[in-house]
Amino acid sequence: MPSQVPSDRLLAALPEDLRPQAAERLKTAGPVLRRLLAGLYGDRAGFDAWLGDLMASLGKLHAERAPELRALDLQRTAEPDWFLNQRMLGYCAYVQNFGGSLHGVAERIPYLEELGVSYLHLLPFLRPREGENDGGFAVTSFDEVDPALGTNADLHALTTRLRTAGISLCSDFILNHVADDNQWALAAKAGDARARAMFHVFPDRDLPDRHERTLGQVFPQVAPGNFTFVEAMGGWVWTTFYSYQWDMNWSNPDVFAEMAAAMLRLANRGIEVFRLDSTAFLWKREGTNSMNQPEAHQILQALRAIVDIVAPGVLLKAEAIVPTRELPAYLGSAAAPECHVAYHSSLMAAGWVALAEQDTGVLREVIRKTPPLPPAATWLSYVRCHDDIGWNVLRAEAQVASAGGAPARLAAVARFFSGAEGSYASGAAFQSTDPNAAHGSNGMAASLTGLQTAATEEERSLALRRMQLLHGLALSFGALPVLYMGDELAMENDYGYLDRPRHAMDSRWLQRPVFDEQRWKHRYDKSSAPGIMFQGLANLIRVRRKHQALAANAPRTLLADAPDGVLALARGDGFLTLMNFTGQPQDYALQGAWSDCAAPGRVEGTITLAPYAMHWLARE
Ligand code: GLC
Repeated sequence: MPSQVPSDRLLAALPEDLRPQAAERLKTAGPVLRRLLAGLYGDRAGFDAWLGDLMASLGKLHAERAPELRALDLQRTAEPDWFLNQRMLGYCAYVQNFGGSLHGVAERIPYLEELGVSYLHLLPFLRPREGENDGGFAVTSFDEVDPALGTNADLHALTTRLRTAGISLCSDFILNHVADDNQWALAAKAGDARARAMFHVFPDRDLPDRHERTLGQVFPQVAPGNFTFVEAMGGWVWTTFYSYQWDMNWSNPDVFAEMAAAMLRLANRGIEVFRLDSTAFLWKREGTNSMNQPEAHQILQALRAIVDIVAPGVLLKAEAIVPTRELPAYLGSAAAPECHVAYHSSLMAAGWVALAEQDTGVLREVIRKTPPLPPAATWLSYVRCHDDIGWNVLRAEAQVASAGGAPARLAAVARFFSGAEGSYASGAAFQSTDPNAAHGSNGMAASLTGLQTAATEEERSLALRRMQLLHGLALSFGALPVLYMGDELAMENDYGYLDRPRHAMDSRWLQRPVFDEQRWKHRYDKSSAPGIMFQGLANLIRVRRKHQALAANAPRTLLADAPDGVLALARGDGFLTLMNFTGQPQDYALQGAWSDCAAPGRVEGTITLAPYAMHWLARE
């Protein structure tokens, strides 16, 4: 069996001047790609011909890449850890909520520059399904911008303007499923056998029932079960999420080739980062929960090899909301790189647990279990996102030192953020079918940290400190931090979704508000909540930029000598962050003299952390 891909098919599609460089990249990534694809599809009849056609298609897409994107590819190949420095900062927003349209988003670039943003994740903006579409996560066409948000030309204009401002555009690439009105789904419904084979379709309940025995449920309340009977298909279609989101059958090489090409066409439109949605679910295996299967990793590694050949300036970001032990695999290894970035959903959720419990036990356990990463890879740190904060990923960590067991412990946290038991939070439990089990919690950060219920100056100030604290964790952990639109202005829950029939059953809309112009205007007013939040955050971002110790790849050490309610993290050479997750003052004994970076001053000996206070200290 040959160990190299048929490189000639790719090279033949390229103009003369691009061939040497492509040949060079193929030397390293070609054998990797060959091995992975042979492992996935090698036993299929016609594999070699299929691989040849795939290479020809990659060559064509490579040839179509614009000169400015090729320049970016070269620049980033020369500096593969370009996204690990402490100046990288992300921002995430819905197009319609942030700017109304792609054009409106472009108008907000000065604001992003003011914040120091270098990476913008716009939630799905491709043509979605008509009617309900899971916030755009049911994609009808990968090649067309949602007409409600703009045109393909607007997308091109936006990526160009962003690039000029030093901001990379990140787009979701939803590779687990497509909408039931996507061209392949329509063709399948019309009886096209090739299209039908791109999905998992079962004539009766036999296999679905067998799979259901071990499958989980993503939306147990609003979309129970993992299969949907579709009349036109004469059978049951695998639908992990909503019934109108059809899972792709990645065991079919046609799916791989079509999806790889769709991703590269988007890369050629100027997308620089892909948020690979729901990566854990790509491969199905009876007797398992069909998550995190080895083949799902092989698919991602093969996509990475393709990106390394055709568009090496592009980053892949894994969205896999899975237990901590499953997370590192999404970043691969030095020998087999996978995604460049992966959401650290355990760290995010554990920060909230620390607030609810006023104890950093679970958070420390997560940090202890976070291994060093391969070169040119990092975590994505965040305080919250457009989805619920899922608690189940923390089962293993919550089991440690827990008298009542992890489910009960996490259920108490979920109740806390729903505002139960006298808590300051105003959120909503998500998809909990059992009041004693945890699923997820929804709500804007400001509402979950108590700003919405704050009745006094003191309460307001505590809520703002809690919010700064969680942001401080994301900014100082050693990762690529991403801010979620509105949090920087302490925006609160949006209950408007309850009046929209398409959204009313999905409380994740609580945290998907429209950008608040009034709060934005108050961002310099230090007597207002938005002003305090914005200025505090802007200050942390400025400090972070100055300290190499806060780069994603600078070493991190969890210090064991802090009280239970305090997280002490040493970073790089001589940097220390202290975070008090409790409502009481806490003492910490410092060794040596330090300067306080965010609130300048000199500290030594015992430092007393005010309730929910954070200090970033640099050794003098
Ligand atoms: C991801 C998205 C989420 C969506 C789901 C299905 O988890 O973040 O919003 O509902 O995938 O596409």
